[in-house]
Amino acid sequence: MTVQEQDRATLRIGDHEWVLPVVAGTEGERALDIRTLRRETGLITFDPGFANSGSCESTITYIDGEHGILRYRGYDVEELAEQCEFVEVAYLLIHGSLPNHAQRAEFSRLLNLHSLVHEDMIHFFSHYPDRAHPMAILSAMVVSLSSFYPELGENRREDIDMTVTRVLSKLRTIAAFSYKKSLGEPIVYPRHDLKYCDNFLNMMFSSPVVKDPINPVLADALNKLLILHVDHEQNCSSTVVRAVGSAEANLYASISAGICALSGLLHGGANQHVIEMLIDIRANGGRVDSAIERAKDHKDSYRLMGFGHRVYKAYDPRARVAKQICKDVMAATGQLDPLLDIAQELEFKALADPYFQERNLYPNVDFYTGLTYRQMGIPTDMLTVMFAIGRLPGWVAQWLEMRGDGEPRIVRPRQIYTGPGKCSVIPIDQRP
Ligand code: ACO
Repeated sequence: MTVQEQDRATLRIGDHEWVLPVVAGTEGERALDIRTLRRETGLITFDPGFANSGSCESTITYIDGEHGILRYRGYDVEELAEQCEFVEVAYLLIHGSLPNHAQRAEFSRLLNLHSLVHEDMIHFFSHYPDRAHPMAILSAMVVSLSSFYPELGENRREDIDMTVTRVLSKLRTIAAFSYKKSLGEPIVYPRHDLKYCDNFLNMMFSSPVVKDPINPVLADALNKLLILHVDHEQNCSSTVVRAVGSAEANLYASISAGICALSGLLHGGANQHVIEMLIDIRANGGRVDSAIERAKDHKDSYRLMGFGHRVYKAYDPRARVAKQICKDVMAATGQLDPLLDIAQELEFKALADPYFQERNLYPNVDFYTGLTYRQMGIPTDMLTVMFAIGRLPGWVAQWLEMRGDGEPRIVRPRQIYTGPGKCSVIPIDQRP
């Protein structure tokens, strides 16, 4: 399917007029098609942060930020989280439809088949410093996969399919291994008899000497949380994955770059910073009001982490589901995290405050997911890694869609140059 021309707009500059098509997507969102603009007018558009720019057409994810709607391939995220397993949603993103029994079984078989990483890669973990952030390890290990599995250089469809399965399966293994290494504990290998999420929890929390039984409530919560992360159309990391892939860099390199983008404070890194913010508020006597006042003060760089979103101007639907999962996990484990009370008070007071109301600032996905992972025993510096495991099918789907596009073009925006005019080099001994 391709965007449909729906209307025409006229651009007038001085005595000249140009007609630009207005195109529309399935749900009626409209865009000015400016593909011929520079050729015909000599002008480019100026849109820092690309807040008003559509970089591609896509059949993967639909967001209505004004009404708090998020759909993957047409399905509401709430319904997918309620009724499906993460592996099914990963299949949906990558193959375009939900799998039947046979398709799911085959997909799971392939994920199991490729769950180990090359034994030589295991030595890499020993050479990172103890305090290395797991996101740095994750991105380095993922790009390293291309040196162990180089056949993807051919770009043949069957090689790409193999690479997709490999990266989906190995990412959780690498994530769990990096956690074990950070504890100085022996790694726990993946098992073929366990499902995707159970396998991950087993690698994280079992040891060669103690088999930690997998708590089905935690496995179910993990399934749901990963589904919430699966895709979010042209967010920062997915845009990076597409941009790197558009240069014909391989899938591993593109995903590795996406992991780096996700690690940022204003993107996936926010879930770690939400927990740190809540711990900080607790350490300061639980003073939620002063955190809110600081966040409102533009002279202070402090922001309420897990609040606000470029696209959502309503409650983020993922935050609503995550809040419920968080409460369910706490009820099931019987452990109440005092940070949840602080988070709920912060949410309540911020939503009642005109500053947040006027700017449509609501909790985003990161506000409650970190608390839930923490309740599951996942340490704070692994929180963004969890986000990366969930986001991986989205990155893969975005990369495949970009590569399958009939006219893929290297991503290469333009700029408005504001530096000095032409200069001449002054010999070094005459420079001031
Ligand atoms: N706390 C306080 N004020 C905020 C916050 C916040 N969390 N978020 C936005 N604002 C204010 C801004 O100061 C600005 O105010 P102004 O109009 O008076 O100047 C206004 O709201 C608009 O904010 P922008 O930064 O222009 O919005 P943008 O779309 O560029 O940024 C972002 C969105 C980065 C998510 C921002 O809301 C933020 O920094 N939030 C905190 C970090 C966070 O939670 N990131 C995770 C996002 S979800 C994800 O990536 C998975």
